[in-house]
Amino acid sequence: MILLLHAFPLNSQMYSLLQQELYDAGEEICAPDYPGFGGQEETIESLDGYAQQLLKTLPEEGIVGLGLSMGGYLLMRLLDLAPERFRGAIFANTRMGQDTPEARQNRLNMAEKVLKEGVEFLPQAMLQGLIGKDAPEDIQDSVKTMILQASPEGVAAAQKAMADRPDSREVLSKLQIPVLVIAGSEDTLIPLEAMKDLAEVTKGKLVKLKTAHLSNLLDPEGFNGAVLDFLEELETTGE
Ligand code: MLT
Repeated sequence: MILLLHAFPLNSQMYSLLQQELYDAGEEICAPDYPGFGGQEETIESLDGYAQQLLKTLPEEGIVGLGLSMGGYLLMRLLDLAPERFRGAIFANTRMGQDTPEARQNRLNMAEKVLKEGVEFLPQAMLQGLIGKDAPEDIQDSVKTMILQASPEGVAAAQKAMADRPDSREVLSKLQIPVLVIAGSEDTLIPLEAMKDLAEVTKGKLVKLKTAHLSNLLDPEGFNGAVLDFLEELETTGE
């Protein structure tokens, strides 16, 4: 089974093209919307709390996890809690380290603001970081739509959960499974250096796409192709 973990503050629709390709390739897929996103009620209190909840619904073995950005943070917690259930991991546009104090404070500020004002200011505040300045209009529209489907409580809780996440370097250095790392060379939110570091620690294969942060939406051919090649390699090596 392939587990697709979405970015913040989007939802599982960001993987709709990939889901179609995986479905056509005969893969079993799980693509949850986190609490508070994609119309889901409730909120994420902590990444570990949500990871525990998710593990109750996932198979006991054979999972390939794919996480982009916040999805990567969540995948790191899942791999710490239940490494034996995974046979492969794909990290895209994400990082192992914790936030700087300034980044953490920005999250808490956003959490406070979104509870007061609602989610309407988020597209304007976040779009450029997520997809760059010159993304095609259809991508801008679909990212905006997904952001506006998040609830203020969900956004605030996710920011607090991310602010409290631990450093994952040690967890990742112990991984015994094949890893693919997908980076965007124009990602201003996650610098290429952080992705190179991640690939080195996990002994993963690094694929660089010429994109901003949401690399799967900005270069679906490159992203989905790398994912399908990785899955095929897992099959042929019997992992
Ligand atoms: C994401 O795309 O999930 C966010 O940029 C993650 C974050 O805020 O660190």
